[in-house]
Parts: sequence; C-alpha cells; structure tokens
Amino acid sequence: MATENKLTIRYRETDNKAELDKEDQHLLSSAREAAMNAYAPYSGFRVGAALRLSSGRIVKGTNIENAAFPSGICAERSAIANAAISFPDDKPVSLAIVAYAGDKLTEDPVPPCGSCRQVIAEEEYRHSTNIRIILGGKNKTIIIDKGADLLPLQFSVNNLKLNSR
Ligand code: THU
Repeated sequence: MATENKLTIRYRETDNKAELDKEDQHLLSSAREAAMNAYAPYSGFRVGAALRLSSGRIVKGTNIENAAFPSGICAERSAIANAAISFPDDKPVSLAIVAYAGDKLTEDPVPPCGSCRQVIAEEEYRHSTNIRIILGGKNKTIIIDKGADLLPLQFSVNNLKLNSR
C-alpha cells in the first residue's frame, strides 16, 4: 500500500537583531570576523562561520577557494574541521553563518550548501547532540533548532549498518 508522507521543518525568523539573545549576537559577530579572512578570489563570495562549543569556546571557519575549483572548502566545513582537530571532546552547540558578496553583507541569510548539511548532520551524530544553526543576513536572521532539520531523509551511518554484511 502506498502512503503519502509530509515532512515539515520549523524555523524562526526575525528582522530585529535586538530580539536575538546575546550569545547568538556574539556568535554572528564572530562569523562576520571570520568572513574577513575568507580566501575567495574566484567567486568574490566571502562566507564566515563560527561554531560555539559547549565550553563556550568559539571556533571560526571561512571558505578557502582554489584554482582547481572543487578543491576549495566552505566556511562551515572549515569551522567544523578546525574544532574537530583542536577541541575534539568539546561538543558543538551552535553554528552561525554569514556571507559577504564582495564587501556587502548579504541582505538575506545564506543557508549551508548540501555537502555542509551532510557534514553538520554527521557532527550531530558523532557528538549525540543538536547543533543550532543561526543564519545572519543584513535584514533577517533565521534560527533552526538542529542541522538535521535541513537534511530530511539523510543518508547516515544507519544506512551503512543496515546494508552491509
Ligand atoms: N560557500 C560556503 O563557504 N558555504 C556555503 O554553504 C555555500 C558556499 C562558499 C563556497 C565558495 O567558495 C563560495 O561560497 C561560492 O560558492
């Protein structure tokens, strides 16, 4: 018998930065600082990410492009790698992401790309935790409770376990 299923995700959106809690505002400003170190000569799109760990520590990431285009890395994944290498036991709690087109903060928030969603979801699995995602634009901020919400029907280690012998 066929069934039709529906997936819904919930997220909050505000056009008033003052409504954000202080920690989130601070994380967004760390992401803006990180974007200043982006190496994006090919796209001119400078992305900054800041990951808050459970100790309160903040670890940054930026996109680092390459003349061999696929060799570049996104801001989100570089922040996650940075934290995983330096502070492997410190659980990630929140991830703020911002982007500058040239020198202008984007009007609307920029969501993580598909590959970064997969990596964020794995990080949640590995630390048995949810990572709040805070997307900051000039006019709007979006908050999503967990990375997995951005990747419905995700491929995960469970698929490997069930299908391997
Ligand atoms: N980029 C990120 O850093 N994060 C994303 O989630 C989307 C895209 C970077 C990759 C590339 O350096 C530039 O933005 C344009 O795609």
